[in-house]
Formats: sequence, C-alpha cells, structure tokens
Amino acid sequence: MTIIVTGGAGFIGSNFIFYLLDHYPEDRVVCVDSLTYAGNLSTLKNVLDKPNFRFVKADICDDKAIAQLFAEEKPDIIVNFAAESHVDRSIEDPTVFLKTNILGTANLMDACRKYGIQRFHQVSTDEVYGDLPLDRPDLFFTEETPIHTSSPYSSSKAGADLLVLAYHRTFGLPVSISRCSNNYGPYQFPEKLIPLMIANCLHDKPLPVYGEGLNVRDWLYVDDHCRAIDLIMRHGRVGEVYNVGGHNEMRNIDIVKLICHALDKPESLITYVTDRKGHDMRYAIDPEKIHRELGWLPETRFEDGIKKTIEWYLDNREWWEEIISGEYQKYYEKMYGNR
Ligand code: NAD
Ligand code: DAU
Repeated sequence: MTIIVTGGAGFIGSNFIFYLLDHYPEDRVVCVDSLTYAGNLSTLKNVLDKPNFRFVKADICDDKAIAQLFAEEKPDIIVNFAAESHVDRSIEDPTVFLKTNILGTANLMDACRKYGIQRFHQVSTDEVYGDLPLDRPDLFFTEETPIHTSSPYSSSKAGADLLVLAYHRTFGLPVSISRCSNNYGPYQFPEKLIPLMIANCLHDKPLPVYGEGLNVRDWLYVDDHCRAIDLIMRHGRVGEVYNVGGHNEMRNIDIVKLICHALDKPESLITYVTDRKGHDMRYAIDPEKIHRELGWLPETRFEDGIKKTIEWYLDNREWWEEIISGEYQKYYEKMYGNR
C-alpha cells in the first residue's frame, strides 16, 4: 500500500508519518509538503533515509506537481493534513487560507479522480461547528451539528469539507473526513497555546492569555488523533464524517497555570491581553460514533500527555529555539507587541 501524507512536515502530519512507519513497515509513505513557515524538514530527519519513505517538496495547489507525483507513485490512500492552521494568522490575512485549504484540497481530489484511489481522507477540525456556550455543559458537537464557522480559518476548513462531500456525491470519490478537537504533543509549532506558553516560561517572558482566559478547549494527545485517522482511512465508512475527541475540556487559564507550575515559574508571568476577534468560547466533541463504529477511545490521559509534552520541549530545545529565533520574531512582535 502506498500512502501519500500531505502536510507531513507539520505537527500532526509528522506524528502521523511516525505512527505509520512504526505500525506498518510494509507500507510506503510519501510526504508532500511545501515547507511553509509551519513545515520543518528537520522534524522528519530520523525517517528521511528509510527505504519505504519519500519526501517531496510540493504545493498541494500545484496541479502539475501533484499529477506527476500521482503518476509516479500510484497511491492507494491520500491523507490531507496540508493546511494553513493558525486562527490568528487567518484573521490577519485570510487569502492563503482560502487557497491552500480549499483550492489545494480540490486540486488533490481532482488528481484522485483522474488516477483512481482507494480513499481520500480529509483531516478537518471541530472548529467547523463554531462554538458552544459556557453555561450549557450538556451540549457537545456531534456529526449532525450544523456547520457554523467563526474565523476565516474555520470557514476555509468548512469549505473544504463541503467540497469533499460533494466530490463523493457527484463523482463517487471514496472519501472520509475526521473532525478533531485541539491536539497537543511533540513538534507543535510554537505559535499555538501550549508550546507558546512552554517556550515563554522557559525564557521568563510574559504569558499572553487572550481575554479572561475562560475559553474552553477539548485537548487530545496527538498520538490518539493519529490512531483515529488510521482507523478511519482503513476501516471507516466511505462518505462519512467522524468526530474525534476525548472529553477533556479545560479552560485556557488553567492550562497556562499548569504549565507555570510544571516548570516552576511564577503565575505573575501571566498577562491578560486583548482578546482574539470572534474568539470561540467552548469546543467539546462527542466521539460516540468513532467509538461505536471503530472501537476508538483515547489512550493518553491529559496528566500524562502534558507531562510528556513538556518533557519533549525541554529535551528538544534546539528544535523550537531555532524556529523562534528566525522570522517568528517578527510574527511575535506583530501579534503581541502592542496587544
Ligand atoms: P501545521 O500548521 O503544524 O502543519 C501544516 C503543514 O502543512 C506544514 O508542514 C506546512 O508546510 C504544510 N502546508 C501548508 N500549506 C501547504 C501547501 N499549500 N502545500 C503543501 N503543504 C502545505 O498544522 P497541524 O496543526 O499539524 O494541522 C494539520 C491538519 O490538522 C490541518 O489540516 C488542521 O486544520 C487539522 N487540525 C489541527 C488540529 C490542531 O489542534 N492542531 C486539530 C484538528 C485538526
Ligand atoms: O480545535 C481544533 C483547532 O485547534 C485546530 O483546527 C487549529 O488548527 C488549531 O490551531 C487549534 O485552534 P485554537 O485556536 O483552539 O488553538 P490555539 O492554540 O491558537 O489557541 C488555543 C486557545 O488559547 C484559544 O482559546 C486561544 C488561546 N490563546 C492562544 C494563544 C496562541 C491565548 O490565550 N494566548 C495565545 O497566545
């Protein structure tokens, strides 16, 4: 089996590649990534020389490059992680989100139609459902919850989801979609909440909490997400959407305090800053369908996952120090400088 993983030099895609190579040594894995600011080839350094792995630098919007790759590799499965993934950046400049997340997905599916594949799996997000109120803890996102997006990022992901389902109905493309909650773990780009707070703590820098820090996210360790995607792409029903999440809701402020304590830093580093525009209040996934149909359950408890994650960032300082010392400085100054 040949599996193309797009966006495999990013956070979840790289963890998924490690998962595949560990669990299916007989499969061939081809990573396609254009290495945007969020892609890092050094993340894949331990697998680049494996005989059943290939890295191809290409943009998923580039129809010629994608056609050539399909002709060469004749893939069985495509898993599309490639995306612009950061909500704050989408508020600054939506255009590239529309291009990569929507047009890139369509371009990949057009190649799938032309060359024929067993499965196109789209890695989507719980953000397509919008948010839930804090005073209704009984409410959860199910696969039937209407699409109701808040940011250019989530709108672009929702647009892609609709196209994926349309390609199934109109062209009979064998697709599936997973909509997962917030991931954390090794190799997450330091613009996201957990690695940003770890990095700032380690540099004794202010910890910028948006608004009052009361927003709730439903955190899942990245390996559990990878296992869910693997199950869905091999055994999930064609044309179906599966929600992925582990009933692990936490307020942002509690996460930040937990990181402070774990790193023995004072809570006085916490600085409340201007809120994100259109900030979603609460995400909470109902994962009943994937449990019932595919037997999936999360395996990593948050206490263990966050401990492993913090240890990883302590043990791999060169990986993230390198990132935050470059272009990222300009981004940080622009987003947080006057906030
Ligand atoms: P990331 O930003 O860490 O990685 C994205 C990767 O895609 C990078 O390697 C980047 O170089 C690559 N890429 C971007 N544009 C590309 C293009 N045009 N062509 C080829 N490659 C391109 O993102 P992530 O957090 O790993 O998220 C991966 C996927 O999972 C995204 O589709 C995201 O919407 C989805 N998702 C993320 C989370 C989360 O908590 N991080 C949760 C649910 C779903
Ligand atoms: O729910 C899945 C989504 O989770 C994915 O689709 C996105 O790709 C991923 O980026 C993530 O989106 P969030 O916006 O929830 O993640 P982020 O890490 O940016 O922010 C988490 C929460 O922390 C959010 O409520 C905003 C807040 N926050 C974030 C940053 C970066 C802060 O308070 N301060 C910060 O500096």
